[in-house]
Amino acid sequence: MLSVLEWDDVHYTFPGASMPALGGASLCLVYGQRVVLLGRNGAGKSTLLLHANGILRPSAGTVRVAGKPLDYSQRGLRIVRHQVGLVFQNPDDQLFSASVAQDISFGPLNMGLSIDATRQRVSRVAVRCGVSDLLDRPTHALSGGQKTRVALAGVLAMEPQVILADETTAGLDPWMQHQVFTIFNQLVAEGTTVLLATHDLNVARHWADLVVVMEAGRVVTADTPAQVFADPTLCELLGPSDPWGKDRTRPTFRYEAGQS
Ligand SMILES: Nc1ncnc2c1ncn2[C@@H]1O[C@H](COP(=O)(O)OP(=O)(O)OP(=O)(O)O)[C@@H](O)[C@H]1O
Ligand SMILES: [Mg+2]
Repeated sequence: MLSVLEWDDVHYTFPGASMPALGGASLCLVYGQRVVLLGRNGAGKSTLLLHANGILRPSAGTVRVAGKPLDYSQRGLRIVRHQVGLVFQNPDDQLFSASVAQDISFGPLNMGLSIDATRQRVSRVAVRCGVSDLLDRPTHALSGGQKTRVALAGVLAMEPQVILADETTAGLDPWMQHQVFTIFNQLVAEGTTVLLATHDLNVARHWADLVVVMEAGRVVTADTPAQVFADPTLCELLGPSDPWGKDRTRPTFRYEAGQS
């Protein structure tokens, strides 16, 4: 099957950090997949996604989009950002224009679409993401969930081949979550690959075609939900699906070791 996005043995250490955030992460995604990316806080999920459209560049290893190694020239990066849409974990890192309409227009205008064609796309994705009534509002004056929906609309406006959504459903009310999963399902039916990084094990169990698990900067498995949730070691790693349940032994916090 044709690969849409591939991380091949990717290594990365943030400037000044003592430990690598990615220590040889590999994963291959094909067209039209529902992918859920799991892993504990600090496992490297966001860092992996930031490599997919060239925001971060690996110190070793290769990222390939549609089979071609990523081109880190200014022109190459402009093209890849239209192929790979990333919805950031924190929408404040994504929204920078004065108004919602300007923010959603940025990608299509940057791709060279006419003002008319851009306007049509903006209005279409605004309806899809439930932000039509917010188009004239300043981006900084929105609620967290509204910001997330605007950030998603900005990514959809570029009609990318793969959408990487970093905990995008986490702050949305159940109606909006339902709307976002409906959008994701429509995109997948059209051949787009949608990857959602989340801590919601139910989404992994019931929505994903492929469940990817990261630990300490590496992908430790990429398999069907049935296979992943049948593996007691992976279930132990991922934690309880009912964190409020009683009689839990305290988990070890790998990344907090040494703190009081
Ligand atoms: N800007 C940064 N500078 C230095 N280290 C960073 C930076 N961002 C992340 N890290 C470190 O890189 C590692 C991976 O972080 P990352 O944000 O990718 O984890 P994550 O799996 O997305 O976690 P979460 O579930 O909390 O979002 C962590 O050890 C983190 O402390
Ligand atoms: Mg993250």
